[in-house]
Amino acid sequence: MNIQLLQGKVALITGAGRGIGKAIALTLAQKGVRVAVLARTATEVQETESEISNRGGEALSLVGDITDMNRIQECVDGIHQKWGTINILINNAGFGKFKPFEELSLEEWKQTIDINLTGTFIVTKAVLPDMIQQRGGSIINISSVSGLRPIPKQSAYCASKHGVIGLTTTLAMEMKPYNIRVHAICPGGVITKLSQENMSERDMSDWMEPEDVAHTVVYLLTQNPRATTDIIYLRRYGSVPLGG
Ligand SMILES: NC(=O)c1ccc[n+]([C@@H]2O[C@H](COP(=O)([O-])OP(=O)(O)OC[C@H]3O[C@@H](n4cnc5c(N)ncnc54)[C@H](OP(=O)(O)O)[C@@H]3O)[C@@H](O)[C@H]2O)c1
Repeated sequence: MNIQLLQGKVALITGAGRGIGKAIALTLAQKGVRVAVLARTATEVQETESEISNRGGEALSLVGDITDMNRIQECVDGIHQKWGTINILINNAGFGKFKPFEELSLEEWKQTIDINLTGTFIVTKAVLPDMIQQRGGSIINISSVSGLRPIPKQSAYCASKHGVIGLTTTLAMEMKPYNIRVHAICPGGVITKLSQENMSERDMSDWMEPEDVAHTVVYLLTQNPRATTDIIYLRRYGSVPLGG
C-alpha cells in the first residue's frame, strides 16, 4: 500500500457531516489529503472541518444538497478556486427509510432514488470534466450490501443501491480512456445514525464502525495502478458470505 500516493491530493466527500463520510474525511485528511466535506447540515460539516484543522489537516466545509445540481456546481467551483482541482470523489451521502413495500409512499421512493442514485449522478457530473481534462482521478461510490442482494423492507433502498452498482461499472468502462478509476464499496451493517434509526430492534454489538469503511477507501486509493477493484463487499465478520 503506497500511502505517498495520497499526499497533497484533493478529495470531495459527500455526506461527511457524520457517520461513514466523516470517518472517510478524517482518515484521508490524516494521510495528507485536502478534503472538501459536504452535507446539508452546516453545523455537522463545520464540526468535521474543525476536527480536521485541529489535527493539522486541511479541510473545506460546504453546505449543499446533492439533489440540487446548481448548488453542487457552485460547491465544485469553490473547491477549484481554493485548490485548483479534484482528484478524488467519494459519493457517500445517502438516505434510507426501511419499511414494507405496501407502506412505502411515492414520496419516500422518490426521495431515496433522488438522493442515493440521482445525487450520485449529479455530483459525478460536476466533478468529471476536470478529471477528464487531467486524465486521471478516482471515484468511489458507497453502495451497500443492499446493492448486491435483496433485503426485505428495503425495496427503494435496494433499488437505488443496485442502481449505484450499475452506474459504477458502466462509468468504469467509459472512463478507462481517461485513466479515471471508478469503484463501489458495498458495506454490510455499520453503526451510524442511518442504521440506528432504521434498525433499532437489531443487536449491533458486532457491527462495523465507520472507520472500517474508511480503511477500505484508503486501500482502493493506494492500489498499485496496474491493478484495480470494481466492487468490494465489506461485511461484519459474524455475517454470512455473499451467496451463503
Ligand atoms: N450504516 C450502514 O449500515 C450502511 C451500510 C451500507 C451502506 N451505507 C451507506 O453509507 C453511506 C453513509 O451512510 P451513514 O450510514 O454514514 O448515514 P448517516 O450517518 O445518516 O450519514 C449520511 C450523511 O449523508 C448526508 N446526506 C444525506 N442526504 C444528503 C443530501 N441530499 N445532500 C447532501 N448530503 C446528504 C447526511 O447529512 P445531512 O442530512 O446533513 O445532509 C450525512 O452527513 C450512505 O450512502 C449509506 O447508504 C450505510
